[in-house]
Amino acid sequence: MEKHNFVDIKSFDKQQLLYLIEMAREFERFPNRELLKGRVIATLFYEPSTRTRLSFETAANRLGARIIGFTDAKVSSVSKGETLKDTILMVSNYADIIVMRHHIEGAAQYAAEVAPVPIVNAGDGAHQHPSQCLLDLYSIAQTQGTLENLDICLVGDLKYGRTVHSLLMAMRHFNPTFHFIAPKELAMPEEYKIFCSQNGIRFEEHHDFTPEIISQADILYMTRVQRERFSDLMEYEQVKNVYILRNDMLTDARENMKILHPLPRVNEIAYDVDENPHAYYIQQAKNGLFARQAIFAHCLGITLDEIQADITIL
Ligand code: CP
Repeated sequence: MEKHNFVDIKSFDKQQLLYLIEMAREFERFPNRELLKGRVIATLFYEPSTRTRLSFETAANRLGARIIGFTDAKVSSVSKGETLKDTILMVSNYADIIVMRHHIEGAAQYAAEVAPVPIVNAGDGAHQHPSQCLLDLYSIAQTQGTLENLDICLVGDLKYGRTVHSLLMAMRHFNPTFHFIAPKELAMPEEYKIFCSQNGIRFEEHHDFTPEIISQADILYMTRVQRERFSDLMEYEQVKNVYILRNDMLTDARENMKILHPLPRVNEIAYDVDENPHAYYIQQAKNGLFARQAIFAHCLGITLDEIQADITIL
């Protein structure tokens, strides 16, 4: 039987992404079902997480599955030297799907190549975060009514921020215009700019984060400076508070503009912005539940028709 992984957002075409969004919408209507009753989901987190792990686990729980896994590799046999391959093969003996976050770029792809069960990439180093990407697409679609022809500002750590890498790859289907706003130390890596050029994605680069730039955006996507990716913490100290979004910078924002942030935030969005109608990042994190329920359905080959026909809605 064909195995459906969820490892790399680039491998999904436009129709597949829109289909997953439609599934997420259906799960938002009825998040509590028995669709995964009798299934076991493993969550292997080699790196810290709040939202991704808990929303995957909530997604599984609300669909009737059971959860196994670890939140810290130190409490697993990884600490005794077990390889990633052996860990994945062992957990494949027990679970129907493996959700994994790992610090090494490409770790989820490697796991997908050795595992007999579907692998979900919950973040691999500074590389990709495809499940975050799906919830970002869902959040954009819900707030803008479309994914097409949008102006999107990506702000902050564009070098190490894996969520922005996934987002720009997925948006190639929807004719976006990107503004990359980052200090030169954290600029969008060359490979992603080449990707934009090869895929006809318009982009401009900026170092200043101003109300004028914000006024051109439909989506203002803030990011945290990823301290854990710096080999020299002195370099982190120099850029850690480079951009801080304050309420008074939003005066000329477009009415439809929404502020997204994958979270956690450190200092990059002042707390008074939370009450601003443009703020959407708390609901965005909630949307992770519905997007991740759709990912489980995808991994198990469950169709939208089957979800809609599911009579065991709780
Ligand atoms: N957005 C995100 O990946 O958050 P966590 O690190 O808390 O999972």
